[in-house]
Amino acid sequence: MSTPFHDPASVTIKNLEAAFAGESMAHIKYRYFAKLCRATGDEATARVFEQTAEQELLHAFGHADLLFPAARVTPAKALELAIQGETYEYTEMYPSFRHAAVAEGRDAAVQEIDAQIAESREHAQRFQAVLEKAAKRFAALAKVEERHANHYKATLDKITA
Ligand SMILES: [Fe+2]
Ligand SMILES: [Fe+2]
Repeated sequence: MSTPFHDPASVTIKNLEAAFAGESMAHIKYRYFAKLCRATGDEATARVFEQTAEQELLHAFGHADLLFPAARVTPAKALELAIQGETYEYTEMYPSFRHAAVAEGRDAAVQEIDAQIAESREHAQRFQAVLEKAAKRFAALAKVEERHANHYKATLDKITA
């Protein structure tokens, strides 16, 4: 997995990307294990998994701070990155996984992949809508600023005339 600010020359960045993936997975896996433990009635073990999952989340955030530097990830950039990721999922990744699952006759996986394709598409569309709304808001704000600037200039012209 390479992140958007991936540096091919840096072993450390590559390691951070792997660590980010691993800690993220641990977070989800422990939450999932907690669910399984709870279903058997083992509440104490479920809670240990949940508490540890919260720490894994913080570990993943620590890596994310370095891989997605705040100075470079504006809300618009975050939306663009998210749209890219979701679009990759539903146009490339899942279709190729689906192909393999069909070839192996793994019907449950095919169904699950189909649901994920639909969800990823919805996520991409939702992010896209937010991005477009933000762009319109910016354009509207720019017009207001322009009106203000013109107004100030006219006033200034009057004073200096
Ligand atoms: Fe960890
Ligand atoms: Fe998604």
